[in-house]
Amino acid sequence: MEAKKASESYTEMNELVLPNDTNTFGNLMGGRLLYWMDICAAMAAQKHCSNVVVTASVDNVSFKRSIKLGEVVTIQAKVTRAFNSSVEVRMEIFAQHLPQGTKVKSNEAYYTFVAIDPDGKPKTVPQLIPETEEEKKLYNEALKRRELRLILAGKLKPEDATEIKNFVNLFIHKG
Ligand SMILES: CC(C)(COP(=O)(O)OP(=O)(O)OC[C@H]1O[C@@H](n2cnc3c(N)ncnc32)[C@H](O)[C@@H]1OP(=O)(O)O)[C@@H](O)C(=O)NCCC(=O)NCCS
Repeated sequence: MEAKKASESYTEMNELVLPNDTNTFGNLMGGRLLYWMDICAAMAAQKHCSNVVVTASVDNVSFKRSIKLGEVVTIQAKVTRAFNSSVEVRMEIFAQHLPQGTKVKSNEAYYTFVAIDPDGKPKTVPQLIPETEEEKKLYNEALKRRELRLILAGKLKPEDATEIKNFVNLFIHKG
């Protein structure tokens, strides 16, 4: 199975915030944003895997700035690393006010997807080739994030999380 470049999975989605997307304060509802993010990230994951994928997990998402009615939400997604059957996708979310010409970053998040076969069983995915400095950094750090989310999901014992242990030890020895 041929490895693919991170850039090949790049996906951008734009959505205009309409009245039906907002809460009573006229701000975009968090759930609607998470839904759009899931779709955009799934498309990036499918591009990389050339296969159907399911959402395995969503890392903690903080909403740093509210997005207003009439603004355009831009979601940019790219695969950061592929494991065996799963891929990690990072997203950056921006709010644009087109008449004013402003673009502000709203939040970022990591979603994990698993490629499945017709029986719903996890299936091997192509490895990822990071090219830019940022892609390489995200690729290297992905191991720690994976261990953390698998611990939280009860799928990895904390004592087996070698990447996190090495990371913590680095700080202990520096101190
Ligand atoms: C995701 C799913 C395919 C994993 O299946 P599973 O039988 O638990 O598989 P395994 O434990 O063997 O793990 C398979 C892969 O999923 C990953 N995975 C499982 N749970 C995970 C979690 N909570 N977070 C991140 N990755 C996870 C594993 O790390 C593994 O990745 P790898 O092959 O790259 O090492 C399965 O749980 C599923 O179908 N879930 C429902 C998906 C869905 O419907 N999503 C929409 C949300 S409603």
